[in-house]
Amino acid sequence: MSTDDQTLIDQAIAVRQRAYARYSGFSVGAALLDDNGNVHIGCNVENAAYPLGSCAEAGAIAAMVANGGKRIVTIAVAGGKGESLSACTPCGGCRQRIHEFADDATRVLIVDDDTGEWKSYTVDTLLPASFVLP
Ligand code: THU
Repeated sequence: MSTDDQTLIDQAIAVRQRAYARYSGFSVGAALLDDNGNVHIGCNVENAAYPLGSCAEAGAIAAMVANGGKRIVTIAVAGGKGESLSACTPCGGCRQRIHEFADDATRVLIVDDDTGEWKSYTVDTLLPASFVLP
């Protein structure tokens, strides 16, 4: 992990504390580095009408787009029930969201289920044979 990676991980963990996860109790934070060198953060925001809840990755990506970022260089996702951090691989929908702004070199940093260590994944690993609009 580079210094940049560790910074993103720290920011994902920090913004996770602000998640609004009153229904699931599962708080998620995301921090991404864009092609302009800017960092954008997001957290999950749940709703009493459950399907209206939004994921941390969606928040970070929306912030990137609103601030003029075009591509995701690296994105760190930190999640877990209550205070404890556990493996939180992006949900299927968020894999597609990340894919939209990802390149072959884009890295997704998530805690590995087996080792508990942070691990880097490519988007192709997480979402093989992904949908692309012809
Ligand atoms: N969640 C995320 O924010 N990102 C993911 O990739 C996985 C799931 C949120 C959605 C919901 O608020 C909570 O985690 C439990 O599913």
